[in-house]
Amino acid sequence: MDQIAEVKQKTDIVDIISGYVDLKKSGRNYKGLCPFHSEKTPSFMVSQELQLYKCFGCGEGGDVFTFLEKIEGYDFSHALEVLADRAGIKLVKSAPAKDTSKEKLIYEINELTALFYHKVLTATKAGKPALAYLRDKRKLTLDTIKVFQLGYSPDTWDTLLKFLTKKGYKATDLEAAGVIVTKSSGTGYIDKFRGRVMFPFSDVSGRIVGFSGRTISDRKPKYLNSPETLVFHKSNFLYGLDKGKIAIKQEGAVFVEGPMDVISAYQAGIKNVVASSGTSLTEDQLRLISRYTKNITFCFDSDFAGISAIKRAISLAEKQHFDIKVAMVPEKYKDLDELVHEDTELAKQLFANAVVIYDFFLVAALKRHQKTDPLGKKNIVEELLPVFSQITSPIVRDHYVEKLSQELNVKADIIRSLLTNRAQVADYEEFKEAPHTSTSDKAVFSKSSYEEYFLALLLQSNVDIIRSFLYKHHQEDFANVAVRETLAALKTYLHNAETYNVEAFIDTMNVDFKNFVRDVYLWDVGSISENSQNIVKELTLLSSRIEKKAARDKITALAKKLKLAEAENNVEAIKKLSEGIKELSEKLL
Ligand code: CTP
Ligand code: MN
Repeated sequence: MDQIAEVKQKTDIVDIISGYVDLKKSGRNYKGLCPFHSEKTPSFMVSQELQLYKCFGCGEGGDVFTFLEKIEGYDFSHALEVLADRAGIKLVKSAPAKDTSKEKLIYEINELTALFYHKVLTATKAGKPALAYLRDKRKLTLDTIKVFQLGYSPDTWDTLLKFLTKKGYKATDLEAAGVIVTKSSGTGYIDKFRGRVMFPFSDVSGRIVGFSGRTISDRKPKYLNSPETLVFHKSNFLYGLDKGKIAIKQEGAVFVEGPMDVISAYQAGIKNVVASSGTSLTEDQLRLISRYTKNITFCFDSDFAGISAIKRAISLAEKQHFDIKVAMVPEKYKDLDELVHEDTELAKQLFANAVVIYDFFLVAALKRHQKTDPLGKKNIVEELLPVFSQITSPIVRDHYVEKLSQELNVKADIIRSLLTNRAQVADYEEFKEAPHTSTSDKAVFSKSSYEEYFLALLLQSNVDIIRSFLYKHHQEDFANVAVRETLAALKTYLHNAETYNVEAFIDTMNVDFKNFVRDVYLWDVGSISENSQNIVKELTLLSSRIEKKAARDKITALAKKLKLAEAENNVEAIKKLSEGIKELSEKLL
């Protein structure tokens, strides 16, 4: 057995997840509040038999490794180490693949670079001006400087290069880590960061993936960032998440403009703050934050450029079902950094009083245009439609339709229909752009899809019940292909197997349907599955509904043919079809 399988076998997913989620038994599975999105009624399911989890609210699911990767931000090998350790298994280090050893090397170089710059800042003469800048001008304490491991890159050509070369690192590896660059003149290397205050970028598990450097002598650019490397991808990095993640879990996340805002806020005791370092928010960054919270607040500087800059971020956040608020730094202050130093209390209040993003845009539009003037009304609506059409919750959307209608004294229906048109156009545009993905991995079931409900109950019952219902239906009674395939496979499986073991059964299934069956098996059918009499009752009910639905569908099909036959005056066909319809109709009684 390989070690991954061994670790898996000696680990119980219910045990591990119980450390994070309060799980209660529900039928064959366990149920609790999803740790990956905020919810009030539990839709997070864990199966001990399958060693899998699945949230029917947000779609998140996987095995024990995925769970730790998602909740702790571990990568796979770290999750493996943690679980092996817990199970008392000593991992035999196989020769690491070439790529991972390269990544390790880059982390090591980054680590040393951060240490070096930190030392230069805090303990050398060369660092004095930078230290004075941070302490006097930026008002940071030594403690804060330590916590964020801030540093200084000396204003020389190759101090870091020499230091790391002496330690035995090759220039090509230093270049791969992004801490040195080739000379523009030709051959040879120089340090990438020179004469800058250094902000190490640390990922959620505390490893340093890259750097940002701010000039202390007004050189351009003001901030210089690491290039993309094997370990640094700016689109899925958030500055401050490693230190803020616990506060973020409790209070939601605040997005600010840059590292200095994060650090000042942290120093003032506001710890739930992250920055996306000069880029607009990406889907990956949102996914990263959603491990901790579904509540985000954008903190805009007073020079906030307006809707277009933020529209995409709203749309992405809406798709991941975030609750989005806005806090605006008062005009008196340039940014959060400045506000925090001038008035810490006001900064704290700012976040406590953050407004729902749609109110923010509504107020802004009303300020910009004259709402009593017909053209003003038109402008307001035109400005808000692209924003409101992003709203995924029909309840929230309707709230703003009504609100806008009252403000402008325009009929709500008019706004509603404009909004619907607008949303359809947007949907279509997105459809054209988006790569086509399967919907099955985000399957969310409801009892109204009773074919799936039937299957869920059946799979979660026992072999006798399964046998008694399995042969009651024809394949074509089921409209859902996946349900049909599963039932067919179940027949084959039970034909050959002595007992019913769901894992063994899933193993026999076609790969295309494996995940579907796992999801169905994890579906919370509640306490019904604890009592076989109840299961039989429910299955009987569903069985008859399925039969009736199948009959209705067949009648519709026959009725269409009947119409054609009547048009042709084909007596024989009319007779046959009418009889068929009559026979089926009896089933519906
Ligand atoms: N930024 C960048 N490159 C630049 C300028 C800015 O990457 N040339 C990013 C930085 O992450 C910066 C953020 O954009 O923190 C916001 O820019 P700005 O408002 O100009 O800087 P501040 O954060 O206010 O920086 P400071 O207070 O140090 O002047
Ligand atoms: Mn600033």
